[in-house]
Amino acid sequence: MTMRRCPIHPKSADDKKPAFCPVRPEPLKNKASLFFTFFIKRNSWLKGLFERSYKMKTGRVKLPGLELFVISELSLVKRVMVDEVEKFPKNRILHEMLAPLLGESIFTSNGDQWRKQRDMLSPAFVRARVTKVFALMQQASTDMLARLAKVEQGKHYDIDGEMTFVTADIIYRTIMTTELNPERAKKVSNAFTHFQSRSLRIAMLGIFKVPNIFIRGTERKRRVLAAEIRSSLEEVIRPRYEAMQRGEPQDYVDILSSILETKDPDTGEAFTYKEIVDQISMLFLAGHETSASSLAWAIYLLSEFPDIQEKAYQQIQEVVGDRDIRSTDIKKLTFIAAIFRETLRLYPPVGFMAREAAEEVTLRDKLIKVGRTVIISPWLIHRNENNWERPHEFDPERFLQEHATPIKSKYLPFGMGPRVCIGAAFAMQEAVLILTSILKNYRVEAYPNMKPKPVGRLTIRSDNGINIRLFSR
Ligand code: HEM
Repeated sequence: MTMRRCPIHPKSADDKKPAFCPVRPEPLKNKASLFFTFFIKRNSWLKGLFERSYKMKTGRVKLPGLELFVISELSLVKRVMVDEVEKFPKNRILHEMLAPLLGESIFTSNGDQWRKQRDMLSPAFVRARVTKVFALMQQASTDMLARLAKVEQGKHYDIDGEMTFVTADIIYRTIMTTELNPERAKKVSNAFTHFQSRSLRIAMLGIFKVPNIFIRGTERKRRVLAAEIRSSLEEVIRPRYEAMQRGEPQDYVDILSSILETKDPDTGEAFTYKEIVDQISMLFLAGHETSASSLAWAIYLLSEFPDIQEKAYQQIQEVVGDRDIRSTDIKKLTFIAAIFRETLRLYPPVGFMAREAAEEVTLRDKLIKVGRTVIISPWLIHRNENNWERPHEFDPERFLQEHATPIKSKYLPFGMGPRVCIGAAFAMQEAVLILTSILKNYRVEAYPNMKPKPVGRLTIRSDNGINIRLFSR
């Protein structure tokens, strides 16, 4: 058994426990470099963090044109996300950044519009409905295994791309009962990557109040990219919507059918065509980028920790054995779920959530004026030593029931309060299925000297992929 002590925590509480310190960007030493990394390099907000960012309760970042308040104290996080949620609506910059792609979707809407959308979308994500789409997820997982079978054993393989493909495929199948073919995947994924980077650039230039004339070209291209993604989704949505309008019987168990059927509880009205395209685009974005990121990080962690991988394999043998995975196995695969939860603690795909003060509020000693941005960062909260013992170590046992201490208030990879992720149960089912499918068939090892480099953009990804070697079981 490899025993490696995490250098950040030289004295672990329990010396017998194997400790492993997964990669994280080196914190900054001085203030000048914050400006440099955050705004000149602009490629990862994680590079703008200091060692003290991981210890602080509240922080303030003041830059030209921008004042941000970072809130990490748990009682204040609860005020922002739960108790006084109406004073902290979603941030406008995020809405403007994503509007060409998502329109007026639930992810960025506020107030009554959000309430209506949440009520109408919720039935599609209740547990019973999620269990119904298990078979569709499993078909995507079987196809993933067929692709992995073509990967050369023991040779360098970047699994990040496969995780992006399989999670996008799962979204296509579970939402629209359509397989994602490689050409369509490539087109959508390229368009999405470029849309993301242009959106971030526009948001940054907007913050610095750069005149519109310098943004126009980027903005035009960004709208073309968003239209490309939407039209690819519309190829599937339009025929289904038109068939529904004609009153033709629909025989689908997917999420689109739930969205087509749903009615506003107050007015009895259904979603319009544009609203449906907005919501499906949002589900595609929110539902695959996050899952792809966390699954790739889980595989990285497993590749570095053979003991945990073996323990996971034992559980898979006990619960599933040689047969196919069934939906009823998911809740019995507790250790696989614990590995995934611990991955979400260390690498929460949504590294920060941005809110905007709708009225003047005081949080601890900070007076927050109307319009100022409030940041809640799962990345910082999950790695704060006031909240977690040995916070930078990978230890899935924290999430096994027998060891679990109360974690609700200090663990928020899916957000918190009324705006908590609607797809959490979906994501857990998907992750346990994909990890189990891979570990049942393969042993994964890290590829030497190619450690991932975490970068914080819309989600937390690795800049150089997740480089591993696969060995058949
Ligand atoms: C590991 C996977 C996932 C993670 C870590 C994750 C994380 C989050 C977080 C942190 C939020 C709250 C954002 C905020 O408050 O600003 C959120 C919201 C949301 N997520 Fe997820 N998500 C995941 C998967 C999914 C999936 C699979 C779907 C759907 C298929 C989904 C749909 C949504 C939607 C619709 C919202 C907006 C809810 C609202 O504002 O009412 N997510 N997610």
